[in-house]
Amino acid sequence: METLIKKAAEALSASNHAAALTGAGISVESGIPPFRGKEGVWEKFDPMEYAHIDAFLRNPEKVWRVFLTGLKDVVDKALPNDAHKGLARLESLGILNTVITQNVDSLHQMAGNSDVLEFHGTFAHYRCSDCSRRYPNGDFDMSQLPPRCTCEGILRPDCVFFGEMIPPHLLMRSEHIATQCDIMLVVGTSAIVQPAAMIPVIAKRSGATVIEINAESTPLTNDISDCSIIGKADDIISRIITELDAIMGTDGKP
Ligand code: OAD
Repeated sequence: METLIKKAAEALSASNHAAALTGAGISVESGIPPFRGKEGVWEKFDPMEYAHIDAFLRNPEKVWRVFLTGLKDVVDKALPNDAHKGLARLESLGILNTVITQNVDSLHQMAGNSDVLEFHGTFAHYRCSDCSRRYPNGDFDMSQLPPRCTCEGILRPDCVFFGEMIPPHLLMRSEHIATQCDIMLVVGTSAIVQPAAMIPVIAKRSGATVIEINAESTPLTNDISDCSIIGKADDIISRIITELDAIMGTDGKP
């Protein structure tokens, strides 16, 4: 483990255009459950019944009442942990340029990263299913579900439901970043949901070093990752930053 952490820190210390792909695992220590595995969101809720666009359109009241309000509450309360802060520090050191995240929790922006691509959208905004008017989180009435726009259209989170496309500009920019970065940090994702899971593959094929940090191995671990560190993201990233500070002669907490 120590050797892998040193290897990751050494590679990062020599980089000035790294990128990161993050998933639900990076926010677990902030109190947001992952989707898959024990305690995962999809253990309790069938995604086809609560997270597919057809299910939402069929019965928005049920999806809001049973699923979205609970998830929104958890996300609303969450604060960045040391893994988010570590990625922000990598940006302030001039190493990491962009975070591509599958998360909707805004924790990377809260931690201080300035270029965050929200691949699956965000819970920071909600939008009208009819007129597309956007509402910042907290700026609409939740006393009756589903919440409605002033035009009476039904509000939905500004995220990507199953059955919906990734906005093409996000997909194109993410793929472009993957071809340009010299290091792709992959943190807290099961790497099975496409097209996000292709991003590290594109990076690898374009010559980047792929450093994976995850609680368990994934389909990337054996074939794509150059360095795979198994553990909790907050712990591993804090240790990488400490090592990096020692190598670079910088000082500061993640
Ligand atoms: P998953 O829940 O599929 O995977 C989370 C990964 O994080 C798993 O491999 C866990 O082992 C790992 N993990 C858990 N706790 C961790 C910790 N403390 N530190 C590091 N790793 C940890 O989440 P995603 O890969 O983000 O999409 O899922 C991708 C997409 O599937 C989501 O964006 C969502 C979901 O369905 C949509 O809703 C469109």
